[in-house]
Amino acid sequence: MHAWLCENPVGVDALTWKELPTPTPGPGEVLVEIAAASLNFPDLLIVQNKYQFKPPLPFVPGSEYAGIVRAVGPGVTHLQPGQPIACLSGTGGFGTHTLAPAERCIPLPAAFDLTDAAAFIMTYATSYHALIDRATLQPGETVLVLGAAGGVGTAAIQIAKHHGARVIAAASSADKCALAQRLGADATLDYSVHTAGGSFRDEIKRLTEGRGPDVIYDPVGGELAEPAFRSIAWRGRYLVVGFAAGPIPQLPLNLPLLKGASLVGVFWGDFARREPQANAAMLQTLAQWYLRGHIKPVIDRVLPMEQLPQAYALMASRRVMGKVVLRNAH
Ligand SMILES: NC(=O)c1ccc[n+]([C@@H]2O[C@H](COP(=O)([O-])OP(=O)(O)OC[C@H]3O[C@@H](n4cnc5c(N)ncnc54)[C@H](OP(=O)(O)O)[C@@H]3O)[C@@H](O)[C@H]2O)c1
Repeated sequence: MHAWLCENPVGVDALTWKELPTPTPGPGEVLVEIAAASLNFPDLLIVQNKYQFKPPLPFVPGSEYAGIVRAVGPGVTHLQPGQPIACLSGTGGFGTHTLAPAERCIPLPAAFDLTDAAAFIMTYATSYHALIDRATLQPGETVLVLGAAGGVGTAAIQIAKHHGARVIAAASSADKCALAQRLGADATLDYSVHTAGGSFRDEIKRLTEGRGPDVIYDPVGGELAEPAFRSIAWRGRYLVVGFAAGPIPQLPLNLPLLKGASLVGVFWGDFARREPQANAAMLQTLAQWYLRGHIKPVIDRVLPMEQLPQAYALMASRRVMGKVVLRNAH
């Protein structure tokens, strides 16, 4: 087998593509032949030693992948060799094979495309948990999605539309806004034109006829957060999803008071760990929605696994629309 090895977590340049012995699964593990792996934001942080989870060295990055089970370890009963699976295990995905914890592998029906499956769990689970569970989004309500052309943003548009909400998609370029519109957004807001210090709030007001959005989905943070919160509707719910822009915003606590609004934290990883049954039921629902054609991962491009550094560079450049997926040739 081959894999991208991180022996020194000082950034992408220090990763090396190495031949390694193919491992044998131990108790509770399966050997997966990886078909495809997708890039998520934490994959960038983890190789820079900036992520909250710091795996022992050396490790193979790649949090999310899909492939075929080739061998099962002792005690594994729900998976057999030949079974297609998707897995989000934190590490191991950027290679040709990996040992995966069987309990984290989701068996896939044959109709589930493996490239889509590799780009599915993190984004859709986060956005469903945020919008439907944490914000209790109602059909007919208006959602403002920031970073709407990113991984979780594109999933949020599709989920909110399928749920019957009105979606305003906000992003940093005309191309990103056009993608959001193709995904079903009812209106778009380009915040390179309507800037945080400029007409951003006026534009939100105009697009919501003065009411403000009922729900704001924010994976970006930075300078957009406070003007967005100031624009929220009475009884609004502001979803704190992530800080892709870097700085963690500081919000004056009089703002939630004035709008009777809620600031709602979203931490899908811990939800999955603390409430595994609710998470499993949610993933079942999402898989059904995919198989019925209601949702589909937006894949910006598919690159060969050997081109991981180019994929990382694309993600860091803020030019990716949807997800970048790496595929193995086998
Ligand atoms: N809370 C949770 O459970 C959870 C789960 C998954 C992900 N997250 C977090 O959600 C955030 C987004 O994840 P993602 O996978 O959707 O990432 P992504 O695909 O890279 O999208 C992030 C979006 O953020 C915007 N952005 C603004 N400033 C940026 C910058 N300096 N660099 C990069 N992007 C910037 C970009 O949109 P514009 O160019 O349009 O601004 C980009 O499309 C991350 O912070 C991630 O850690 C949280």
